[in-house]
Amino acid sequence: MKQIKLFSPATIANLSCGFDVMGLCLDGVGDKMIVRKSDQKGIRITRIEGADLPLETEKNVAGVAGLALLKKLNVNFGFEIEIYKKIKAGSGIGSSSASAAGAVFGMNELAGRPFTRKELVEFAMQGEVLASGSAHADNVAPALCGGFTIVRSSSPLDIIKIDSPSELYATVVHPQIELKTSEMRAVLTPMIPLKSAITQWGNVGGLVAGLYTSDYELIGRSLQDVIVEPLRGPFIPNFNEVKEAAVKNGALGSGISGSGPSIFALSKGFNTAQKVAESMRSIFEKTTIPFEIHVSKINSEGVKII
Ligand code: HSE
Repeated sequence: MKQIKLFSPATIANLSCGFDVMGLCLDGVGDKMIVRKSDQKGIRITRIEGADLPLETEKNVAGVAGLALLKKLNVNFGFEIEIYKKIKAGSGIGSSSASAAGAVFGMNELAGRPFTRKELVEFAMQGEVLASGSAHADNVAPALCGGFTIVRSSSPLDIIKIDSPSELYATVVHPQIELKTSEMRAVLTPMIPLKSAITQWGNVGGLVAGLYTSDYELIGRSLQDVIVEPLRGPFIPNFNEVKEAAVKNGALGSGISGSGPSIFALSKGFNTAQKVAESMRSIFEKTTIPFEIHVSKINSEGVKII
């Protein structure tokens, strides 16, 4: 195998209550990438389409993640990477993670698959450090492993994958303003009241239990965030209105996707997810803000060869 073409999916991190630890993988929304073997050692980003991103390996999230993996690979060849971006930077659906996950996944395949998908998270996280200044794995883990993932610990890395209840669908609206993750992390407070922490970990436990038992109502009740959302919500246009409309139209729950500005909702069944999408559309159609809406089932596979 000389080269592979990949679909590298978008992801929703945090899922309301699980800041920096929970995430899910979307289907049908993502980037395409080509990773190929090269006689020239090292990594070269040879093409980027769809976004204005640096080609220099050390300045590109795919390059940096790839370099972290390359150090551990025992290969006598190098790699070329082409990136065809569909996920916009600063969208809140894991744009940098998709590039980083695709790079390490592709390189690992071409090197004979020495690492598991979970093991690749460690390398892909280096891309997040470059993109946002923090080594969180809640986007790269679902991008690589698929389904829902929990980052029980990021050092040492301990990722748990949960398969998704079969009728769960995500609706995501992306108002096309850019919110930088680093800036949206800077608005957070490092200390939280014990009362809020208790509410939050009650919801995390409820969400995980709901996913394992396919208890859709429990999943919905648990999609609450009393810590991060109150601080970030005001930066997102129409956030409260969209959230309210989503739930009114049948969504189990709704919240900020990653660090925003995208807003997600989870629903039972495609038809409800579609109805939720229409309610989001009617809100943004009344504004001058350009937006995109995605309805997606949960992608249980993660990044894949196409
Ligand atoms: N957990 C991260 C944050 C995700 O919310 O800052 C960033 O995409």
